[in-house]
Amino acid sequence: MRWNVAAAGLMGLFAQSATAIKMDIDNDQSVKDAAATIAYGMMSYYTGNQTGDTPGNLPDPYYWWEAGAMFGALVDYWWITGDTSYVEATSQAIVHQASETRDFMPANQSRTSSNDDVGFWTLTAMSAAEDAFPDPPEDQPQWLALVQAVFNQMASRWDDINCGGGLRWAINDFQTGKDYKNSISNGLFFNLGARLSRFTGNSSYGDWATRTWDWERSINLITDEYDVKDGAHFDVTTHVCRNDSGPHVWSYNVGVFLQGAAFMYNVTTGEEQNTWKTRVDGLLGSIESKFLTNDTKIIKEWYCESGFTDRGHPYQCNIDQQTFKGYLLRWLSSTSQVAPFTYERINPWIRSTAIAAAAVCTGPVGAAAPQVDSGGIQPGFRGIDGTACGFKWAEPFDGWSGVGAQMNALSAVMYTLTHKGLGKAAKGPATEKLGGTSKGDPGAGVTDPASRGGLAALKPITTADRVGAGIVTAILAISIVGGSVFLTI
Ligand SMILES: *[C@@H]1O[C@H](CO)[C@@H](O)[C@H](O)[C@H]1NC(C)=O
Ligand SMILES: *[C@@H]1O[C@H](CO)[C@@H](O)[C@H](O)[C@H]1NC(C)=O
Ligand SMILES: *[C@@H]1O[C@H](CO)[C@@H](O)[C@H](O)[C@H]1NC(C)=O
Ligand SMILES: *[C@@H]1O[C@H](CO)[C@@H](O)[C@H](O)[C@H]1NC(C)=O
Ligand SMILES: *[C@@H]1O[C@H](CO)[C@@H](O)[C@H](O)[C@H]1NC(C)=O
Ligand SMILES: *[C@@H]1O[C@H](CO)[C@@H](O)[C@H](O)[C@H]1NC(C)=O
Repeated sequence: MRWNVAAAGLMGLFAQSATAIKMDIDNDQSVKDAAATIAYGMMSYYTGNQTGDTPGNLPDPYYWWEAGAMFGALVDYWWITGDTSYVEATSQAIVHQASETRDFMPANQSRTSSNDDVGFWTLTAMSAAEDAFPDPPEDQPQWLALVQAVFNQMASRWDDINCGGGLRWAINDFQTGKDYKNSISNGLFFNLGARLSRFTGNSSYGDWATRTWDWERSINLITDEYDVKDGAHFDVTTHVCRNDSGPHVWSYNVGVFLQGAAFMYNVTTGEEQNTWKTRVDGLLGSIESKFLTNDTKIIKEWYCESGFTDRGHPYQCNIDQQTFKGYLLRWLSSTSQVAPFTYERINPWIRSTAIAAAAVCTGPVGAAAPQVDSGGIQPGFRGIDGTACGFKWAEPFDGWSGVGAQMNALSAVMYTLTHKGLGKAAKGPATEKLGGTSKGDPGAGVTDPASRGGLAALKPITTADRVGAGIVTAILAISIVGGSVFLTI
């Protein structure tokens, strides 16, 4: 096993000056301890619970959505390991960002929240419902009702006029992505539909998921090979969809569809279930061919780790893209639970990735990924010295530390324990009938005035909005949820 030799060499190199993480993959307590160290390092970036700061926000240059994703990892961390260290901070963050409107549309973030940004916070609420994460007091927003609110709003944004269906990337008229239908926005809607269908037993949600899948296929965003392309622009006057996604694929696009397809497999029977099984297998094939190293089966972000060049330099993942493979791990793990026939295939991938990822958590306090484009410099690592994780796993510690690197490594390590019965996770995601406690509200979110008929029915834009919008468009053009932006500039 070539990897073990390399990993052993690495450990030797960094162990002298550093603590490093010594993890025995076959010892549950050792894996749990490694996860705890990495989670601690991740939360060392979080300042939202300090006096004067806003619960749920990460410091610049991290976008709002990434904080939402981080708390999703922490919900699962509690579910799998039983470690309650971050339960309070997580609950406070989700409830605060759910905002007064109870739909993850806080006014402070209206400029940066497109369907995908809102969708990532909503996934966190969905995980909280499925994991039976402690429910907030009754007068506070409830996990399931939050998901239903956002789902209903997304459904009302479905746009049949352009490209024959799908959600646009943008929610508001002043955002980038008004003329872009992207796979992550639609994939999140699909994913939430499939999971709501299983959690509530209401098949209307699944009907929306099926419709979204069919539409993605119809414009070839999901290809015959089950690659999931980033998105398609359309002509705003003719409404015709372009075939302009380019060759790049991102791990979170295929991952978000994989988990949704696995949930659809779980809730269907007969012929329909066979169809979803074929899709799950197909997506796993795409993942295996693009997002796993050939011989060692370690997850990688294909476009940033395969030597592609951009303007003469190796293409580097921006801050958003640095987090994608962590979500792929999350969705792979969940897939192996709700579509158990995939377990034998997926589990070895998570295991080899966990070993590789933990082996490069050797960086010092202060380690920080270099700036990519104009994304800003990430704060230096403040966890335990010698345990800062790197981004690339198939090579020695690369210095690319940050929230993304911690979240990815945490995911790799903790999801090896999903089936082990340490916490509640071994039973699989809860449903309303089986283990779930979260209260729903099927009618939530339907009166949102900003969501009827896509962008057309939006409130008129004021001068103040326009002034603000210029700045935000500039920021958006740099980096909001990942792959999409890279392709639009
Ligand atoms: C904020 O949360 C972190 C991580 O849970 C914790 O270590 C820290 O003590 C908290 N700070 C405050 C002010 O509550
Ligand atoms: C919005 O910003 C204000 C001012 O910083 C802050 O007090 C409030 O908590 C923020 N609200 C949300 C939902 O983030
Ligand atoms: C089922 O879900 C749909 C949303 O797609 C909702 O309109 C309907 O009220 C739900 N039915 C029940 C019984 O909750
Ligand atoms: C879309 O473009 C790709 C090249 O980027 C091409 O290979 C493919 O055949 C095109 N598909 C359609 C349906 O035009
Ligand atoms: C696996 O090997 C093939 C053939 O050498 C190569 O084209 C492909 O990029 C490799 N895959 C990965 C994920 O490195
Ligand atoms: C659905 O998921 C549960 C685990 O959460 C699993 O026990 C069950 O076997 C799955 N159903 C099917 C048809 O695979």
